[in-house]
Amino acid sequence: MLPPIFLSGNGTSRYLECPIIQSPLAGVSDQIFRKFVRRWSPKALLFTEMVNAKSLKLGHGEEKVIELSEESGPIGVQLFDHRPDSMVDAAIKAESSGAFLVDINMGCPVKKIAKKGGGSALLKEPELAQQIVKKVSQAISIPVTVKIRLGWCETSSDPISFALGLQDAGAQLITVHGRTRKQGFSGCANWEAISKIKKSLDIPIIANGDIKNSSDAIKCLQITNADGVMIGRASMGAPWLIGQIEEEIQNQKTFIPPDAKMKVSLSLEHLKLLISKKGNHGLLIARKHMNWTCRGFQGATALRHKLVRARTPNDAIKLLEDELMRFN
Ligand SMILES: Cc1cc2nc3c(=O)[nH]c(=O)nc-3n(C[C@H](O)[C@H](O)[C@H](O)COP(=O)(O)O)c2cc1C
Repeated sequence: MLPPIFLSGNGTSRYLECPIIQSPLAGVSDQIFRKFVRRWSPKALLFTEMVNAKSLKLGHGEEKVIELSEESGPIGVQLFDHRPDSMVDAAIKAESSGAFLVDINMGCPVKKIAKKGGGSALLKEPELAQQIVKKVSQAISIPVTVKIRLGWCETSSDPISFALGLQDAGAQLITVHGRTRKQGFSGCANWEAISKIKKSLDIPIIANGDIKNSSDAIKCLQITNADGVMIGRASMGAPWLIGQIEEEIQNQKTFIPPDAKMKVSLSLEHLKLLISKKGNHGLLIARKHMNWTCRGFQGATALRHKLVRARTPNDAIKLLEDELMRFN
């Protein structure tokens, strides 16, 4: 069993009771998705989708931060940009909105973001990266954490020095996705490299990359000796996964994952919540969630094919309601 993670900000110290962490997922980890994750893991640290710090100042993406007051457990606001002042302003806003911590994105490989100097581009600019962490840490009293990759590319990267620099600048925790920016999502996450970072730093390190279940998490923790693990893609369509891994590793109990009926009913609930919040656009967002969740049971493929063709929210609701009748 992993101990809780201790984080100390400028003025506040905080404990993370659950060291199994839900990763920030742009286009996925919105408030509704997080509500489902918390159903199975009320104490887990969850993250907003990444928020553009500069746009936040101009009033865009504000809903991602304002919604925090309704969050029932620890929530990190993840910010990206390359301008220290924008990051400071956005971090202050996040703190006053009730964030548990502020996380700085230094790993996003998306060209549109890296080209402007944000996300993974900061891996090439250690001094600027440190300046951002230092200024943000000085401006807020909640903990400041950073999410990095192993470097821009294998030949030019020195992830240990990079991470040490962030620690010196005031980062309270670093999450490491065990790939370089150049790798994107190809190959396997390098957990050995994460273990070297863990050995060299004093602050908590969270290992990330390719953890799909409890046995992966255990293996990753054995190799990296990290203080916790972060799960991303495997939780898409499986909002119970953080709770499942927590139950299996931390409480050493058997977890019974949702069966076919529960998956369909979860998809219906998700769809209805999205529609009530976003109207017809909610169906577009729900499509991917339903497509991920409705898997692994008899009739799932046919159901997914029908759902993808549903033209209106009511058509999709009817499909799921009819499917549920099949289980009664
Ligand atoms: C759809 C999608 C959206 C993502 N959005 C973010 C993001 O907003 N911020 C971030 O730091 N990482 C983001 N990531 C990266 C993940 O958080 C995670 O680091 C990566 O997927 C590796 O972990 P995994 O193998 O458990 O998925 C995203 C990944 C995916 C697939």
